[in-house]
Amino acid sequence: MERDAGALRPAVKASDGLDGDSAKDQVEARVVETARFVTLRINRGEANDVSGRWEDYEVPLEPGMVVLDAVLHVQAHSANDLAVRWNCKAAKCGSCSAEVGGMPKLMCKTRLEEFDCSKPILVQPLQTFPRIRDLVTDVSWNYRVNRKITPFRPRTDREWRFYQRDVDRSQEMRKCIECFLCQDVCHVIRYQTQEKPQYFGPRFYVRALGLDAHPMDSANRLRLLQVEGGIGLCNVTKCCTEVCPAGIQITDNAIIPAKERIVDAYQDPLRRLFRKVTGTT
Ligand code: SF4
Ligand code: SF4
Ligand code: FES
Repeated sequence: MERDAGALRPAVKASDGLDGDSAKDQVEARVVETARFVTLRINRGEANDVSGRWEDYEVPLEPGMVVLDAVLHVQAHSANDLAVRWNCKAAKCGSCSAEVGGMPKLMCKTRLEEFDCSKPILVQPLQTFPRIRDLVTDVSWNYRVNRKITPFRPRTDREWRFYQRDVDRSQEMRKCIECFLCQDVCHVIRYQTQEKPQYFGPRFYVRALGLDAHPMDSANRLRLLQVEGGIGLCNVTKCCTEVCPAGIQITDNAIIPAKERIVDAYQDPLRRLFRKVTGTT
């Protein structure tokens, strides 16, 4: 890509009161200072192109710039056909998810300063889901999983009164912005075929536990998480928690409590006997 000539324009001219070599040196020094560039190495490709092709684009570096700014600069100035999905640019809609420098990130929340800008910064689509085009992936599998979660079932046996502390856990889970970065990083999903295994993934353990934790909910989702949701396959590596931009403690506050309750409910021999005798699930 050609560098934008405007961005290279020096901040002072040789006629600004300086002459000879010193003026020239100062101009050159300021050009170096003001015209910093970063190379974005973007993985591009058409639908279902798994490996894609890497293309380099140079972008003028501005203070506070995030990866999405740089990608949109590429789209505006160098590659008008570059496909990228975003909406809010405020880390709220979850649509600008991609892998930057090999890690799942929201592009609108990731500053370029986090990286060594003297080297190309790699930007590629989420690797767990099929590519639609360039940086846009098809995450519809997640919506199919979502439909399997038993919805909120309000209790009818008590008044709707509770303390804030009773809904703290439920509210934490509802901070999810459905960016699917946790689904992207989870190895149980990542290394499976496109029609994923019987495994819901961290985003949907969060959703199920958020509903379960509400004091006015009456549904039991533990069996669903155990059998169809495959929560036993999670080996609590905590990778999902590390990438969650909403700061949800996915493993400590959703997955581990769910696993403990499943063990209590379905693997305790006395409870198992009780269920056999009473015919309950
Ligand atoms: S902790 Fe479990 S759900 Fe989270 S990334 Fe690891 S295996 Fe996946
Ligand atoms: S739990 Fe966190 S990482 Fe996973 S989809 Fe929700 S906000 Fe994104
Ligand atoms: S654009 Fe909405 S989260 Fe990044």
